[in-house]
Amino acid sequence: MSSYLITGGAGFIGSNLTDLLLEAPTNTITIVDDLSMGSQDNIPDSDRVTFFEHSITDHAFMQALLRENQFDYIVLLAAVASVADSVERPYETHLVNQEANLNIIETLRTAHLPFKKLFFASSAAVYGERPELPKREDMAVQPLTQYAVDKYATERAIINYARLYDMPMVCARFFNVYGPKQNPASPYSGVLSIVMDRLASGKPFTFFGDGEQTRDFVFVGDVVNAIRGLLQTPAAKADVFNIANGKQTTLNQVVAQLEQLTGQTLNASHEAARAGDIRDSYADASKIDQFEFMHHTPLAEGLAKYVASIA
Ligand SMILES: NC(=O)c1ccc[n+]([C@@H]2O[C@H](COP(=O)([O-])OP(=O)(O)OC[C@H]3O[C@@H](n4cnc5c(N)ncnc54)[C@H](O)[C@@H]3O)[C@@H](O)[C@H]2O)c1
Repeated sequence: MSSYLITGGAGFIGSNLTDLLLEAPTNTITIVDDLSMGSQDNIPDSDRVTFFEHSITDHAFMQALLRENQFDYIVLLAAVASVADSVERPYETHLVNQEANLNIIETLRTAHLPFKKLFFASSAAVYGERPELPKREDMAVQPLTQYAVDKYATERAIINYARLYDMPMVCARFFNVYGPKQNPASPYSGVLSIVMDRLASGKPFTFFGDGEQTRDFVFVGDVVNAIRGLLQTPAAKADVFNIANGKQTTLNQVVAQLEQLTGQTLNASHEAARAGDIRDSYADASKIDQFEFMHHTPLAEGLAKYVASIA
């Protein structure tokens, strides 16, 4: 029997993780989410799930929650998860994406609270526009937005706390996650879910550039499985891992596959590439692949599951 705290558990990745963890019949899960982006509909109706509609920026609330419960595992997913949003609201992003997380690890440290493992969700955004491919964890970073700065700074703080104070904590940089429960109507969704929305509605979709830009699309089931694996692997500590498929896919290829799966044709137009858009990104996934738990769902299989979840 294990108890989990998941911040951001009403969101896309957090709710998929909750579903996975509930498969073990004695796990209990506490979710803190302010529903700024997530939805209560994502949270399963179970007496093993406790939900607090609350912001992680309420430091006193988070301190009390941590002190009054003994969580075995802590998963930090709550964030202003949109890079565009962080450009609009850099200071607010910082308070959520960095300060609130520092408050959590500082509370664990100063109160000597016992826990088995803490996981923090960082992002491929930390790599920025540097041309070297594939992206490896030991490469120089180039965080170009407040979102990326806060992800990198929090990742480093967690690794430093883990080393300096011998706390069991680990980080991962997610690449482009897709799959069930991703909100296609959100203006901040990843490109893949926006394409899905436009295919279903027939509304126009604008390619910025020729569609040959590449991304590393990773199925959400593989991501939550990797989070659980990192939590349960004591050797994965004071470190950061890419979580990705390790494959480079063009936007045109994804659109073609989604058109085939849905039987719809995208109402597409093209505009010039936007300044600052990253042309190519994909991960070297060999570091996370050292663990047997890492699974790479082929894109065609993951897209089929995603389409089936929406139909
Ligand atoms: N989806 C991706 O492709 C991707 C890629 C890289 C990193 N990440 C990271 O993974 C994590 C989960 O992302 P997601 O795709 O599930 O996004 P999401 O927006 O669906 O989930 C984030 C959740 O955090 C909640 N939240 C935001 N601010 C909060 C606050 N102040 N207090 C409490 N809850 C708050 C939101 O309501 C939402 O439910 C985030 O940290 C994100 O930065 C995601």
